[in-house]
Amino acid sequence: MDVPGDVPQVVHNLLVRSCLLTPFLGAASLHPGVERDVRGSSTGVGPEPQRELVTCPVDGGIGSLSSIEGVRRAYARLAPSYDQFTAADDYESLSRIIDDLLVQYQRPGLELLDVACGTGRSAYALHQRGYRVTACDVSEDMLHQADRKPLASHVRFFVADMRHLPDVGTFDVVTCIDDAVNHLLTAEDVRLAFRSVRRLLKPGGLYLFDVNTITTYRTFWSQTAVSDCGDAFFARVGRTPPDIPRGGEAQFTLECFRHNRSQWDRSSVDLRQRHYDEDTIRRLLSQSGLTPVASAGLHESGTVDRHINEDWHTKAIHIARATD
Ligand SMILES: C[S@@+](CC[C@H](N)C(=O)[O-])C[C@H]1O[C@@H](n2cnc3c(N)ncnc32)[C@H](O)[C@@H]1O
Repeated sequence: MDVPGDVPQVVHNLLVRSCLLTPFLGAASLHPGVERDVRGSSTGVGPEPQRELVTCPVDGGIGSLSSIEGVRRAYARLAPSYDQFTAADDYESLSRIIDDLLVQYQRPGLELLDVACGTGRSAYALHQRGYRVTACDVSEDMLHQADRKPLASHVRFFVADMRHLPDVGTFDVVTCIDDAVNHLLTAEDVRLAFRSVRRLLKPGGLYLFDVNTITTYRTFWSQTAVSDCGDAFFARVGRTPPDIPRGGEAQFTLECFRHNRSQWDRSSVDLRQRHYDEDTIRRLLSQSGLTPVASAGLHESGTVDRHINEDWHTKAIHIARATD
């Protein structure tokens, strides 16, 4: 992969720093064995939480995802707990599904950019499938978590907003995994992100990403549940109307409690996303110079269908090609 000489400062910082330094099968889901309705009726089979919540100091306001600054703020709070929150997500299976699809649609090579890579779970899983992975995210805090992992020397990380990806070379494949595109709240932002990806794809290169279906917003994002994960305790408070219309904006608040000596530290993150259906995604791809080649529906169980049903599937996977 060719990397230009005048790498933007943020990229440079991260390149230098890296020298120093689960319904995905879902980020919105809590660990299956411990999920319980917060109002008291048990919906899971896991053990009762051992600890009592004793103090709840909020560490200063609620992060909002209404702007990129809001995304950064929200994920700065979530970053230390993100892997615990998504512990149930099975990235080994997910990367197999992604790889199978990429092979099926004739990816031209193995040079891969993972956009919105978060703490690196998607990037590392794809590296382990044989891809040569470069990865970026708009949240330095999420990248910091990624960069602390044992495989860090195998992936090149940099900070970037997916709507304005810098010129860091060209790729055979670009991925954007676990509903990152849904964080973009306007069609114009999605178009910017798609055009940005198009610029970095080699001719014939593939762009693979997933978005949440309306079912996910009507269920996970509208319900309230808690989970106990080691020294962290999560309460996901659904703030989305259960009848949210297609294309609507969804929201939940994630309360993270972390045990700290005799008290619980609390941070509160407000997550906002917009639903994009298949027709909208295909239209935005076409308007961005990308040719939609396939769509697949993903069940929470991990089963993949060759079509999307917004009422059955929890995620929709889209694949587009950079054609001339
Ligand atoms: C649900 S996480 C998924 C992370 C990772 N792909 C994974 O599978 O674990 C969504 C990520 O999207 C990132 N994100 C949101 N908006 C972004 C933007 N405009 N540009 C780049 N990253 C963004 C967030 O910082 C967050 O790390």
